[in-house]
Amino acid sequence: MNRLRLGVIGAGAWGRNHVRTVANLPEAKLAVICESDPAIRKQMQHAYPGVLVTDSVDQALAAAEAIVVATPARSHTDLALRSISRGLPTLVEKPFALSVADAERIAEAATVAGVPVLVGHLLEYHPVVNRLRELVGNGDLGQIYYLYSQRVNLGQVRPDENALWSFGPHDISVALYLLGETPIRVAAQGRSYLQPGIEDVVFLTLTFGSGTVAHAQMSWLDPHKARRLTVVGSRQMAVFDDMAPREKLRIYDKGIDRPPEYRSYGESLAIREGDIFIPKLSNAEPLALELQHFVRVARGEEAPRSDVADGVRVVRVLEAASRSLSANGIPVPLEGH
Ligand SMILES: NC(=O)c1ccc[n+]([C@@H]2O[C@H](COP(=O)([O-])OP(=O)(O)OC[C@H]3O[C@@H](n4cnc5c(N)ncnc54)[C@H](O)[C@@H]3O)[C@@H](O)[C@H]2O)c1
Repeated sequence: MNRLRLGVIGAGAWGRNHVRTVANLPEAKLAVICESDPAIRKQMQHAYPGVLVTDSVDQALAAAEAIVVATPARSHTDLALRSISRGLPTLVEKPFALSVADAERIAEAATVAGVPVLVGHLLEYHPVVNRLRELVGNGDLGQIYYLYSQRVNLGQVRPDENALWSFGPHDISVALYLLGETPIRVAAQGRSYLQPGIEDVVFLTLTFGSGTVAHAQMSWLDPHKARRLTVVGSRQMAVFDDMAPREKLRIYDKGIDRPPEYRSYGESLAIREGDIFIPKLSNAEPLALELQHFVRVARGEEAPRSDVADGVRVVRVLEAASRSLSANGIPVPLEGH
């Protein structure tokens, strides 16, 4: 089969990972890199001889059969709409858009044009997240009481996106993906220490109709680098540590059981300290899995996993969280629920 000609718009800190991964995919060909910074264009020309490197979006759209948009969030809507209007399957990096209205414009344009669009919710392609989703879905963890994540490190401080819009798409997309539910209420508190009006630290809480609560701590002003998710269920608990070089998922057969028959309250709760299970999982790179899926989506072989509806849902949560953030943490009900 012919290799799909892919173009990447934006080859900055993250976009260059797309460039590198596309260049190594057997099923795709890196056809064009579009970048407005001349110094990066020069590096790209040197690293990828034979690949068209341009600052013209039109030229990039003309040279590719499918497009990855990896520019800063403020340009996602415009670039996605231009790519869709040319009929090109498009992968839009997270955050999908900076408002629900913009996310819905992209979704509407994609639907009308019949063009598949994928949102770069990278963790939905992570083998550990997919195993966790199976564990939640088949009831192995029992009823999910709550989950919490930490996505903290020192830098990269972003000038136009706060920690919520920068990190939140990951934690929110994972929570929705694992639980198969949209929250009914969102609350967020945060503080801006480095730049006025741009929160460096955000504490986000999502409440779901089932009663499950998801909490995320997000910061680029923290001494630790942590990427950790803990899921606490009535039967078992699981911890996903994405900073661990291997054995990223641990399933704890721990819990507090209530025997069916008991005499007094004190006897009614029994702590269960069971085994810890470390499943053997693929260590395939999530970005390669996401891009391989994108190639199959572009060829019409698969429906998008992180599709436009997913993109709109996550932006809806982000927008509600922003409203809560500016109202000092007052819970905001999620409209359309
Ligand atoms: N999925 C993930 O895990 C992940 C991780 C990091 C960043 N991201 C997302 O990727 C996007 C890019 O982030 P980044 O850290 O690479 O930002 P960045 O600022 O380092 O890079 C963006 C690049 O896009 C270029 N650019 C901007 N407008 C352009 C245009 N119209 N045409 C061509 N080039 C243009 C800039 O010159 C810059 O080099 C953001 O949306 C970010 O949130 C995703």
